[in-house]
Amino acid sequence: GPNRPHPSPRPTFKSVQPNNLDQVSVPGGYDHHVIIRWGDPVLPGAPEFDFENQTGEAQAQQFGYNCDYVGFFTLDDDHGLLWVNHEYTNEGLMFAGYSGGGDADLEWIRVAMAAHGGSVVELERVYGTGQWKLVTEGARSFNRRITPDTPFRVAGPAAGHQLLRTEADPEGTRVLGTLNNCAGGMTPWGTILSGEENFHQYFVGAPATEANSRYGLRSGYSGRRWDRVDERFDLAKHPNEANRFGYIVEIDPHDPDSTPVKRTMLGRFKHEGANVNLTEDGRVAAYMGDDERFDYMYKFVSAKKFVEGSRKHNMTLLDTGTLYVARLEGNSPEEEIDGSGTLPSDGEFDGTGEWIPLCTDTESFVEGFSVAEVLIHTRLAADKVGPTKMDRPEDFEPSPATGKVYCALTNNSAREPGQADEPNPRGPNKYGHILEIIEDGADSAATTFTWNVPIVCGNPEDEDTYYAGYDKSKVMPISAPDNVAFDKQGNLWIATDGQPGSLGINDALHVVPMEGRFRGELKTFATVPFEAETCGPLITEDQKTVFLAPQHPGENGTVEAPTSVWPDGDFPRPSVVCAWHKGGRDIGT
Ligand code: FEO
Ligand code: CA
Ligand code: CA
Ligand code: CA
Repeated sequence: GPNRPHPSPRPTFKSVQPNNLDQVSVPGGYDHHVIIRWGDPVLPGAPEFDFENQTGEAQAQQFGYNCDYVGFFTLDDDHGLLWVNHEYTNEGLMFAGYSGGGDADLEWIRVAMAAHGGSVVELERVYGTGQWKLVTEGARSFNRRITPDTPFRVAGPAAGHQLLRTEADPEGTRVLGTLNNCAGGMTPWGTILSGEENFHQYFVGAPATEANSRYGLRSGYSGRRWDRVDERFDLAKHPNEANRFGYIVEIDPHDPDSTPVKRTMLGRFKHEGANVNLTEDGRVAAYMGDDERFDYMYKFVSAKKFVEGSRKHNMTLLDTGTLYVARLEGNSPEEEIDGSGTLPSDGEFDGTGEWIPLCTDTESFVEGFSVAEVLIHTRLAADKVGPTKMDRPEDFEPSPATGKVYCALTNNSAREPGQADEPNPRGPNKYGHILEIIEDGADSAATTFTWNVPIVCGNPEDEDTYYAGYDKSKVMPISAPDNVAFDKQGNLWIATDGQPGSLGINDALHVVPMEGRFRGELKTFATVPFEAETCGPLITEDQKTVFLAPQHPGENGTVEAPTSVWPDGDFPRPSVVCAWHKGGRDIGT
């Protein structure tokens, strides 16, 4: 039956072969369906998409651009709510004749702005299958667009701090919008956590400060020129506006009237996302990556316990607790880690680590920083305590089967051979790797852990790749691991962002067992259209559906000269797709 554990955790489908096709490909026995595309109506009464006559007003009611994280909550057996992050826009694919924000029609900038944020859409199951479709009839009362105009409440210890106050918000507690939402996670209390990642690119005119420089905020113009439509994006005039982005935001998709929240207790950096795990004593831990070359991995542990069914209480869990940053130490002699990827003599890239506390909600552990300063200038505070500089920490995911935690390190072209260390063993790191963290006592509240690198990505024919010791003649190539997810059996699903540039093949969705004798047997479940990045992925609770979001199909083309025409054959439209087994089997089996 669907709820019994599978007798073997090993995926048994036949891998999709590497390709450069302009389509979504899934294994034999599976099918897929495009659920919703950029521009499709989301809100009741929204206008139909009109590519040649787009307006900001219409876009604010329609599905946004570049989908990244996908979350899904079932309402009943046949209905559910899909949350989608709209990370950013490719204006050259949206507007004919676009040549940069400086000359852009102001309405185009309004459209691009409204295409950011997120969407909630109600789905219904095609009866008895793993296929989900958009609810287009009836009230669609849950449907919602979040845009750069949506008010957010600022919560946690930094709320109201002077660094967060602006002319429009003298209290420092109410911010318009969320930006560059990349990965995310679902909480046990039914909300979405979404990471504000590369927020720096929306601002111009940053004063030359240490903090602005550490966050990539520059004095010049950004290509997007949102300041031409909304002056708050000009930091010369509104210097604190950028301090109000770079957080984990929490959204309640079950209540379309709810005010989404910026959780300052989880720090401010280029947040890839946040994924939560309950601690042994019932508190909440959130694992988070700061996606920048040589930046850090973080963990938050709540002060209070999760209480099943008490939504109001659980909505306060992320405001009090402790924020940590990770330091990792290898157990092999340094001279054995030469940057080539050759395994050290103990046969593994592995070692121990500690979570270094930066602050609690009432106490700072970083000299010269108040609690609010740690939470607003988190990178600067972390720099003081010697964390390990990682190869772009992307998505994190705890395994529901074992409690072990996995982080995707996507790549790092800037790491010199001499800068290689055991947790980041290649310099340069062209293909990325996966890190496995085993918290001491299998408790997410632990402050010490052991770790290893189970997958060193690339072409398995190359010597500098490693698949947990598995026979490399039986695995698939993988590069640029990015978003990760688990199925119930404990198989790790890995979406990639960058296989075209590093391996010359389309991005893909891979799956790999993390336990047992097939640990390391990596297979390719899906490939995405030309020049798209694979986002999502999410395997539904009942294991019958995988959602994925091919992001930026044809990203190197233009309206005039498209390189992808997915999914409709005319011009590329970032979309969300579901895939399922036609015989009703669990995904991957
Ligand atoms: Fe938006 Fe770190 O990927
Ligand atoms: Ca070792
Ligand atoms: Ca990502
Ligand atoms: Ca994930």
